[in-house]
Amino acid sequence: MQEISDADFMQLVGFIKKKFGIDLEGRKAMVQSRLSNYVDDCGFRDFSDYLSVVYSDTSGGEIANLINKLTTNFTYFMREPEHFKHFMNVFLPQAEQTCKDHDLRIWSAGCSFGNEPYNLAMCLDEYFGFRRTAWDLKILATDISLNALRAASKGVFTEASLENMPESWRAKYFVKMNNGLYQVCERIRSNVIFKYHNLMEPITFKKQFDLIMCRNVMIYFDDKTKSELCKRFYNATEDGGYLYIGAAECPPDDMPYIKEQPAVYRKSGGESGI
Ligand SMILES: C[S@@+](CC[C@H](N)C(=O)[O-])C[C@H]1O[C@@H](n2cnc3c(N)ncnc32)[C@H](O)[C@@H]1O
Repeated sequence: MQEISDADFMQLVGFIKKKFGIDLEGRKAMVQSRLSNYVDDCGFRDFSDYLSVVYSDTSGGEIANLINKLTTNFTYFMREPEHFKHFMNVFLPQAEQTCKDHDLRIWSAGCSFGNEPYNLAMCLDEYFGFRRTAWDLKILATDISLNALRAASKGVFTEASLENMPESWRAKYFVKMNNGLYQVCERIRSNVIFKYHNLMEPITFKKQFDLIMCRNVMIYFDDKTKSELCKRFYNATEDGGYLYIGAAECPPDDMPYIKEQPAVYRKSGGESGI
């Protein structure tokens, strides 16, 4: 197995943190185990040789490949169900009362394989039923892992990954394929738009969001990075809109949102917003 020197590792830690926010300090063994086969298989002399190609890569291909290997994309359906309860019981009833143009804007930021945004789309379908045709309910789902985004847009999952899904949702929202895998039905898939977006970059989407769900992403960021990201999220949130973060995540010290319940934050100005 190829070994990465301390100097090369520290340079890589700095590069990834600056570009993607992810703090890999103290995770040398993980980095080595995820990259060393690639370094060998591609015929690089050693880690230094490989990393010099990464740093001078202007095509973006080598960096995208590195990100595919270094990101932790763990996710599952019905993760942290309190958020889905809040979404169905608080967020959507409020939105229905106050969102006059019937255009709800929801962003799953750091969506990994798509379980989270598809889950939200299923909740929207459950909540609105036949009324959904009167609403624009598209969900934006973004990530930096192109592998995860590619898999997410196909919406294909193993039977085991559906284990937390209520039986009636499995029957309604998944189609069993010939190979035994399950695909999210077209109606739900067409509600989610997958895009590459690096959360370290400015947020330039045209409209503000009623809800941003960014769960188990900031866990890899330091406080300064979280603080800057939460300010960007805040400016991209409608008055009265929400931010959901992971239950195990600490918000930054200067969190601009008001805490409504654990892992649920709201931008002030509720009555004029959603
Ligand atoms: C552990 S998964 C969380 C997935 C889902 N939100 C959940 O809670 O189940 C974290 C995701 O954040 C993405 N991520 C990490 N840094 C990012 C960044 N700078 N911009 C966008 N996505 C990022 C990773 O690629 C990964 O897919």
